[in-house]
Amino acid sequence: MNAANQTDVIESLKSTEGRVLVLDFGSQYAQLIARRVREQQVYCEIVRHDITAEQVRRHNPSGLIFSGGPNSVYEDGSPQPDPELFELGLPILGICYGMQLVCNSLGGQVASVPCREYGPTQVSVTHRDPLFNEFPAETQVWMSHGDQVQEVPEGFESLAKTGTCPIAAVKHRDRPLYGLQFHPEVTHTPQGKTLLKNFLYEVCHCPGNWQLEDFAKEQIAKIREHVGNDRVICGLSGGVDSAVVAALLYRAIGDQLSCILVDNGLLRKGESQLVVDEFTDHFKTDLHVVNGESVFLEALEGITEPQEKRTVIGHTFINCFKQASESIDAVKFLAQGTLYPDVIESGAAVDGPAATIKLHHNVGGLPEELGFELIEPLRDLFKDEVRALGLELGLPEKIVWRHPFPGPGLAVRCLGEIKKDRLDVLREADAIVIDEIHQAGLYRKTSQLFAVLLPIQSVGVMGDARTYENALVIRCVDTDDFMTADWTRLPYDVLAKMSTRIINEVAGVNRVCYDISSKPPATIEWE
Ligand code: XMP
Repeated sequence: MNAANQTDVIESLKSTEGRVLVLDFGSQYAQLIARRVREQQVYCEIVRHDITAEQVRRHNPSGLIFSGGPNSVYEDGSPQPDPELFELGLPILGICYGMQLVCNSLGGQVASVPCREYGPTQVSVTHRDPLFNEFPAETQVWMSHGDQVQEVPEGFESLAKTGTCPIAAVKHRDRPLYGLQFHPEVTHTPQGKTLLKNFLYEVCHCPGNWQLEDFAKEQIAKIREHVGNDRVICGLSGGVDSAVVAALLYRAIGDQLSCILVDNGLLRKGESQLVVDEFTDHFKTDLHVVNGESVFLEALEGITEPQEKRTVIGHTFINCFKQASESIDAVKFLAQGTLYPDVIESGAAVDGPAATIKLHHNVGGLPEELGFELIEPLRDLFKDEVRALGLELGLPEKIVWRHPFPGPGLAVRCLGEIKKDRLDVLREADAIVIDEIHQAGLYRKTSQLFAVLLPIQSVGVMGDARTYENALVIRCVDTDDFMTADWTRLPYDVLAKMSTRIINEVAGVNRVCYDISSKPPATIEWE
């Protein structure tokens, strides 16, 4: 390792000082806890619930948070923490099931209550403690539990209560061990942030200086050390995740990186060129562009069924990528833009403490049979953090803030059979709606906007002539997580401009509709 690398590593070690580990006991909110902690500028990772005390020591955290979970702590086989964790002298905050674990493990009593408490509840703070600094004496919190702590362990005291839960928060008198029966991480606990902040700053004494800048330095050092003198390939798609991975890799290993852009003919207007310009002019990467339009169109011929389209596109992509990668010598690693939510959803993080560089099959990614070792430097980040990192690395806003685009591209927005002329109609209309939303200053305020070409024609009149042409749909949604979404109430005048321009400028379209369905029951994409 050269001197510059060593400096990076030393800096990265400094930057992870004050990290917190969230032990996941099966909670649907573990990710949210991690996110809330990072919002306080404290680095945080989710780890398996049965992480050993020795493994925890190696992470050198400033504190631990035990997440909630669906089990009962007294049930056989319920997930339990290593008892030695309580002997590390580290601050621990147990949330819901996590609080019950703390109490049960240290000699308290937990039992089920006749009536499950679910939803907003008023909590009253009965004992003041640094954890409750600036927290109102009475306020709303979110409860979701069927068990309760009936008796605190020796040395503990109760700090808060609700109408039905006399022990809603606990603390050890002399040791930094805390528990909250309610969920501070959800927005339905409006003052929850204050509690987490107090735990991180007042109890764990975290410096609160974690920044993405440090993350970038840390990753760059790790990548250099891991990759050594070998070569890495990275697929570029036009999306933000792959662009950020490539930019990060480029900063770390420069010309040891080769990028592959498979232009499948299903990309948005100007997308391929945007990526080519950025990764040859700005980041001077060894970029291999595969012009796959005809191969994809041929493979898709006659296919109308959405799943079949996706499968064919997936296989064709792998073949094109494989061929391109074979033309590059001595590749050892494949870099992918897997994000934290993908890792959590795939269960990989729960298989072991999240490692930054490890083998993991990305959902919808390339198959392991390609024989490369995976590098996934974004696997600890949330989407908004990836965007911030992209800007930090010098990527332009038009890449970093691009609305998401599905892997199968325009094929799932061109309903029915895929033909070049239909794709061109869709691409032009799509470019118009995107242009208009930019003009209206609403691009960043909406989550995803695009056009969908329907496989039906409708009657119209243009000039004095009857037309019988394509119907097209504008889809625009607002969402935080893309799991649920609401249709955007776009101003009528913006919609009117989009419609007028499409009908005037895109030959072959005589009718424009606006999709007013939410997800669920509709999905965001039409196929
Ligand atoms: P749906 O249609 O399932 O879409 O509500 C949710 C989000 O996922 C995107 N999407 C995909 N992204 N490959 C991707 O990379 C895909 O096959 C795919 N299908 C949907 C969609 O654009 C939306 O943001």
